[in-house]
Amino acid sequence: MRVCVIGTGYVGLVTGVCLAHIGHQVICVDNNEEKVKLMRAGQSPIYEPGLSELMVANMDSDRLLFTTDLGKGVRESEILFIAVGTPALEDGSSDTRYVEAVARSIGEHLDEKYRVIVNKSTVPIGSGDWVRMIVTEGNEAHQQQTGQAIAVNFDVVSNPEFLREGSAVYDTFNPDRIVLGGNNPQALALMRELYTPLIERRVGENPDLPPVPVVMTDLSSAEMIKYAANAFLATKISFINEVANICDRVGADVSQVAQGIGLDSRIGSKFLNAGIGWGGSCFPKDVSALIHTAKDYGYTTSILNAVVEVNQVQRLIVVEKLQQELKILKGKVIGLLGLTFKPDTDDMRDAPALNIIQQLNRLGAKVKAYDPIVSQSGVSHGLSGVQIESTPAMLADQCDALILVTEWQEFLKLDFPALASRMHQAVIIDGRNFLDKAKLQQSGFRYLGVGRS
Ligand code: UDX
Repeated sequence: MRVCVIGTGYVGLVTGVCLAHIGHQVICVDNNEEKVKLMRAGQSPIYEPGLSELMVANMDSDRLLFTTDLGKGVRESEILFIAVGTPALEDGSSDTRYVEAVARSIGEHLDEKYRVIVNKSTVPIGSGDWVRMIVTEGNEAHQQQTGQAIAVNFDVVSNPEFLREGSAVYDTFNPDRIVLGGNNPQALALMRELYTPLIERRVGENPDLPPVPVVMTDLSSAEMIKYAANAFLATKISFINEVANICDRVGADVSQVAQGIGLDSRIGSKFLNAGIGWGGSCFPKDVSALIHTAKDYGYTTSILNAVVEVNQVQRLIVVEKLQQELKILKGKVIGLLGLTFKPDTDDMRDAPALNIIQQLNRLGAKVKAYDPIVSQSGVSHGLSGVQIESTPAMLADQCDALILVTEWQEFLKLDFPALASRMHQAVIIDGRNFLDKAKLQQSGFRYLGVGRS
């Protein structure tokens, strides 16, 4: 099938590359010329394991091309994905101006052929109907300008994505479910056809599994599914973090508690790792947007408000633990192991590290950091109040304590006795309960985790 993906951010690029890989003819459109040039040269603008290789392979097979020409994409495709950003505004609502601009431009380029316009961006509930209206407006304005009468024929479908950064390609090829929301069965049938290779697990890791469930709903329910899924996962993390804080006080171990409750199939063991809380480009934005939508409709979200509140407190738990351990932080040197909001990404959006750095600075500590990606990239990521070191050994030099912020696999292999010998005091706060407590203690560290100290 012929597909156009508009917006080559995280969601758009991964979607475009993966759709090409399952055999479709994909045109990826972006209005950033530099970015398009980079992608044409086979380079991915985002760090995502496996993505560049897949991009190059599909460009070589002539199934994938990049352009700034939106008109070309619209004219030559039957399915048009809108995958531009919907960043959070100050009040927590979503900024939909990029979606609006794209919908209007699509309208200007539509001809009489039938098209399915797909909302892939996480858009506020009710956006499906709004996009239909904007596309129609764009088309009418174009008809007036040109004096041409065109009978356009299109449907809008909501098809939320559930990709995790760091495993976006894997998640696309191995989905738990595919959600399709829309009012016209013809549009939903086309979308199902588009995803057939995924549904039949022809590209996934385990071809013996039963077909991927496809959930077909109305537009608003599909939009709601995305928010409810992310809000539920954030709730699960805040819940276990609250349990961890109680564990700390009563002397229980939250890792054992998580194992004990997670084996109950009604609860499930995933997303029960206690630590410094959730961050990134999705959970904070989506939970705030859902709270905001509910408020718009006169409803107060007691649970979601608490989920956010617990998360804010949780980010600074490691600083509190440090204060208990070192007493005064003024003048102390603190080293952060990891900066990104999670491993295998270079993403610093709403990363807990930002709050930790700010709080340590406020208390007069000097902050250094080593992160496998940030340290190597030389990109500042807008970070201030922190000195970036290029090796873990340089990070440890003269430190009074280390805080593990991101659970990068390579941190498991660090030479901890050597790090301890370089430090002023060998204290480590494990913000992700990631390291082996006994091993750290044998290496000479005073070790504190979250909910298991
Ligand atoms: C998330 C959703 O998982 C994905 O389905 C959605 O489409 C986009 O948002 P992502 O933001 O890439 O994906 O990261 P994810 O792996 O879900 O982690 C989110 C945050 O929760 C991270 O800050 C992570 O460190 C934290 N987390 C996750 C925990 O603190 N504990 C856990 O047990 C799991």
